Amino acid sequence: MSPDEVTRLLPPWAVVGPDRIAHIGRVAAVLEGWGAARGTAPDELARWRRAAVLHDALRDADEAVLRRYPPLPDWPLKTWHGPAAATAAARAGEHDRGILDAVRYHSFGYAGWDDVGKMLYLADYLEPARPYERERLDAFAARVPAAPRTVLREVAAMRLAWRLRNGGRIARETWEFWNSIAADASSSSS
Ligand SMILES: [Fe+2]
Repeated sequence: MSPDEVTRLLPPWAVVGPDRIAHIGRVAAVLEGWGAARGTAPDELARWRRAAVLHDALRDADEAVLRRYPPLPDWPLKTWHGPAAATAAARAGEHDRGILDAVRYHSFGYAGWDDVGKMLYLADYLEPARPYERERLDAFAARVPAAPRTVLREVAAMRLAWRLRNGGRIARETWEFWNSIAADASSSSS
């Protein structure tokens, strides 16, 4: 999706710089590619696109703006933009629960996600401008259309391992997400 198209689709309350707009466009383009490869229905693809546009719509907002939204005492400041954007989108009339949850939890993962949340999580992490371990990320991205559930588990494991290696805190939402997609999870969702 071109920067102009992202700009046209962004809500009026968005706070994003040019780099963020470019990132959102790449995430949307990755999702479009996966949707085309999987033969995803246009309505579903439109949901993926809405989530892509909204997920970082407040990523460049400063703390004063983010503090106007419901407080998140347990979440680090740099993750507030997701819940804030979900709240703003809901106030502006977005009623699709899957889209709102995709946006709200995109930094952490969420056990209750439908396909929108899962595909956005993958596209946000695998989009082509992320510099580290590029070959590995490209290989993941190429396998998503044929094996989304397996790749989701592998990507979540990679992110979890990275945080553990660096001594980072793991949010409750992330553990619940991991357990919902773990190899022995009884869930059959994709
Ligand atoms: Fe993002």
